[in-house]
Amino acid sequence: MTGPVYVSAPLSGDRAADFAAACELRTGDGSAGLSSDRLPPGIEECVGLVCLLVDRVDRALLDAMPALRFVSSVSVGVDHVDVGALTDRRIPLGHTPGVLVDATADTAFALLLAAARRVAEGDRFIRAGRWRAEGRWSPDFFLGRDLAGSTLGIIGLGDIGRAVARRAAGFGMRVIAWTRSGREVPGVQSVDLETLLARSDFVSVNVALTEETRNMLDARRIAQMKPGAVLVNTARGGIVDEAALADALESGHVYAAGLDVYEQEPLATDSPLLDHPRVVLVPHIGSATARTRAAMVDLALANALAALGGEPMPHCVNPEVYGG
Ligand code: DGY
Repeated sequence: MTGPVYVSAPLSGDRAADFAAACELRTGDGSAGLSSDRLPPGIEECVGLVCLLVDRVDRALLDAMPALRFVSSVSVGVDHVDVGALTDRRIPLGHTPGVLVDATADTAFALLLAAARRVAEGDRFIRAGRWRAEGRWSPDFFLGRDLAGSTLGIIGLGDIGRAVARRAAGFGMRVIAWTRSGREVPGVQSVDLETLLARSDFVSVNVALTEETRNMLDARRIAQMKPGAVLVNTARGGIVDEAALADALESGHVYAAGLDVYEQEPLATDSPLLDHPRVVLVPHIGSATARTRAAMVDLALANALAALGGEPMPHCVNPEVYGG
């Protein structure tokens, strides 16, 4: 396949040099997501697109890229891509499963611990000079929640959900889970979603964002959570109704939350989530370790190189495009 390939942001790593040698690269600066209303000059000539999760690959963008023959996303989640529209055009979509499992599960646990033990709140308390000013330490000072002996409910038992379950076992937690596939995992009790919400002291969201899971934790489901539970989301913001979560935090029904992902990213500066002391917020950094990001870039470029060479992508979301 010949023709230029658009890469949304500069990429480094072992395969980047091979990739640069294999095609004419046009590289964006990654400052703003690619979308049909933000088109770089010459994009209509590109046969390939290596995109990020901040890009919006929808039918309008595809209409603006008539020469496009493949898309490779540097992400495992592909909710930023209209997969059906690509499949209709027989365009393969590559993604990066597997390599970000441990990094993302670590982030879920970091948020769970930080929310349970009020780590960010304590940090702000000291930096604001309040510890010195108030000179306090007492038996009820900065009390949080225990992990050992508590129940963690995992929504979605894919690779990342199972990695979260392994970590929870090490912390002495009971683990229950709801999964669309009904998958059985040793040491994890499968339950329906209502039971999970009612029984869990901690809930970790680890399911992909699809039309079925969008707004899954809405006001009604959040109300079904055990009073005083902690919610952690490292999957996608669209799964949790943020306004309902903010209300539940405000009322005390949800004790604390640890969030890596948001309905709109970057998070709006007037989000009610910013007002609550027991919400721990990080900016979609679930997979952000040097080794993991290098592995993601490597897989995304392996997908792109395969497509350039006329081969099936090794990690293709819509392999049916290769059929018949
Ligand atoms: C992904 O790859 O989908 C993750 O959200 C990145 O952290």
